[in-house]
Amino acid sequence: MSEYEPKLVCFSCKFGWGYLSDEDALSRQIKNWIPIICSGKIDATHVVDAFKKGADGVLILGCPEGECHYQDGNFEAMKRVHLLQKVLGAFGIEEERVRIELSIDPEGKRIPQLVKEMSDDIKKLGPLGNSEIEGGA
Ligand code: FES
Repeated sequence: MSEYEPKLVCFSCKFGWGYLSDEDALSRQIKNWIPIICSGKIDATHVVDAFKKGADGVLILGCPEGECHYQDGNFEAMKRVHLLQKVLGAFGIEEERVRIELSIDPEGKRIPQLVKEMSDDIKKLGPLGNSEIEGGA
């Protein structure tokens, strides 16, 4: 019997994460990795859409505090994630399914590691039934 493997979507800011890496090699290594321009571009709809399409968790990687190229995109993303965690929690969806990390990793070596760590945590929660997202119908 195959072991449950959570599906994770990882959005990472190109300015802070993996910009010195071979993006193609990294994308072969990390399933559902989506490099973006600023974590501030990610809002609740992106996260909810990922869940609707079968993700069990969403990881957002943004630049460190004070280093966002769009002033405070990372701070806004952080605020949105905290708010979204509360809303998801109210619907019985574990807050741990959405995570944000503000840091820097030019070579992108930590991205697979962070995805693996989150995946291991999500494994303990089990799959996310899409019924929660779609209103239980
Ligand atoms: Fe990286 Fe805004 S430019 S989080």
